[in-house]
Amino acid sequence: MNVSKLDNQQSSCDDTVVCLTDINVVYGNYVALYNINLDIYKGEFIGICGPNGSGKTTLLKTIIGLVKPLTGEIKLYGDNISEKIPKEVRFKFGYVPQFAPYDKNFPATVKDVVEMGTYAKAGLFKRITDKDRNKAFEILKLVDMEHFVERPIGHLSGGQQQKIMIAQALAAEAEVLLLDEPTSALDFRMTEDVMELLDFLNHTHKITIVTINHNIKLLRAFTKRIICLNKMISYDGPTSDPNLDDVINKIFY
Ligand SMILES: Nc1ncnc2c1ncn2[C@@H]1O[C@H](COP(=O)(O)OP(=O)(O)OP(=O)(O)O)[C@@H](O)[C@H]1O
Ligand SMILES: [Mg+2]
Repeated sequence: MNVSKLDNQQSSCDDTVVCLTDINVVYGNYVALYNINLDIYKGEFIGICGPNGSGKTTLLKTIIGLVKPLTGEIKLYGDNISEKIPKEVRFKFGYVPQFAPYDKNFPATVKDVVEMGTYAKAGLFKRITDKDRNKAFEILKLVDMEHFVERPIGHLSGGQQQKIMIAQALAAEAEVLLLDEPTSALDFRMTEDVMELLDFLNHTHKITIVTINHNIKLLRAFTKRIICLNKMISYDGPTSDPNLDDVINKIFY
């Protein structure tokens, strides 16, 4: 196991689900993230914004171990992650990528993809039970996608696939959802639907949500805390802060 508890050290990361300290990420010699310090607490609903190429996707990928930082420390649930994230910690994090991951010919139905979430934690060779099947179907209802249950996943639109990815993460009992522009491909009606779903999951199921979105108005309506990135964190504070407009104007224009 690659988790080492810093027992004898007073950690400033107490009660956090994610705690990043002095994180720097480089691709080759290009600096994508610079000196990132970030605490995320259980139950938060956080919006991340920033111009194209400002490191938003890199930040989410760094949290779940898809990108290795050059320097800095990552703690998930208070545990120091050095090499690989332990499986039991990894499954607490559901990641919905920026682009729909399934192509037209991907050989699985919506049902298969969500059921995959129910046995992801237990291991691929676990037999799927009726209980798992029922759970997957209940989750599909929760995200309002049960009528697509038998549809090949690759035949869904990008936005619909993202909803199924949310369902898969919930089936794996994710406690934290990291979403990379979940509404960028959606019409305004579906956008509201997804944001309301996230709001519902946050309020009713106490899921911690971190979502990237270019639509500041939308983030203002649904989130309480907003992080503006421009390789560095330019702003991290309440969505209601009147200074937020100045920060956004500076980094976007
Ligand atoms: N695998 C990679 N190899 C090299 N450079 C990369 C790689 N991934 C990202 N980058 C670069 O790092 C920077 C940050 O990329 P990232 O995808 O994190 O930005 P972003 O804020 O998510 O952008 P967007 O709003 O367009 O999705 C960009 O300049 C990008 O070109
Ligand atoms: Mg991105």
